Amino acid sequence: MRPKVIVSSGIRTDNPGLFEEELSGIANVFFSTFRRDETPPEEIRDADAMILALELIDEHVLKYFPKLRIIARYGVGYDTVDVEACTRRGIYVTYTPGILSHAVAELTIGLMLCLSRRLIQADNYVRTEWAKPKKPMLPMGMDLYGKTLGIVGLGRIGYEVAVRAKAFNMKIMYNDIERKYEAEKVLEARYADLETLLGGSDFVSIHVPLTSQTRGLIGERELRLMKRTAYVINTSRGPVIDEDALCRALREGWIAGAGLDVFSREPLPLNSPLIGMENVVLAPHVGTYTRETRKAMALMCIENVRSALSGEIPPNLVPEQKGKIFERGRN
Ligand code: GLV
Repeated sequence: MRPKVIVSSGIRTDNPGLFEEELSGIANVFFSTFRRDETPPEEIRDADAMILALELIDEHVLKYFPKLRIIARYGVGYDTVDVEACTRRGIYVTYTPGILSHAVAELTIGLMLCLSRRLIQADNYVRTEWAKPKKPMLPMGMDLYGKTLGIVGLGRIGYEVAVRAKAFNMKIMYNDIERKYEAEKVLEARYADLETLLGGSDFVSIHVPLTSQTRGLIGERELRLMKRTAYVINTSRGPVIDEDALCRALREGWIAGAGLDVFSREPLPLNSPLIGMENVVLAPHVGTYTRETRKAMALMCIENVRSALSGEIPPNLVPEQKGKIFERGRN
């Protein structure tokens, strides 16, 4: 029997046919999805491999998929996958690091520019006010030049953001669980504890994975440490920031504004207080959503699936599984 590969129909790409084109020589490809609180459809339960968007995977879900050999996350964050449970069952978990960092960094800089130059209001102003005789003034913007960018998490994506911010002549401060000495030299970046970073930055940009340590990392205390003129940008995972505290910060002026691509609940509910706020710029979780990057991510997932199905160790295992020996059927 040919192996079965399930590709999440939640994956947004301009060429879903690519998965079939690339995998049809070795497997049958099905598009499907499931929710943790529903029994997965019968026809996908004998899957050998899955390429997933943001479906939640834990013990409860895994018990429906006894043949599964690999979960290939279509993205770099794998907080939706219980890696320990997969490891216990001998299921590889892979992700797509590196190839998407520039895309997320570009969006991050885009959000900073939207905020600093009030581009959303400027667009609206041209459409509705500019040509009127007695028009109000558009509020003045702020230079990025010479300002300090505080990067929380100087990993692959944080680094790419710093490189771009340097080109704008911004000063770089960073916080991370480890010192990045090489980056400090190349970027003239200054390491700081989180409190110092928050108090000294004009922009704070979050680039940490969502883990039990980073959930709620930026809460009321942290937001109150920021300058009243500063902006926070989040293109990582929504729950890293306490969204209720953020809404209060934005409403009560503890900070100047926020650029957000990720939220505690996605899609962001239309009744979220963020929707009505003028000092935020919102995007629908599109950090990697470009034709080139989505294609590169698809090809990386395909390569991982191909390796696993041919009995090899996939090249992009998540760090927790590196060096682990898998013996299927032991559990
Ligand atoms: C996007 O959210 C990703 O995990 O790459």
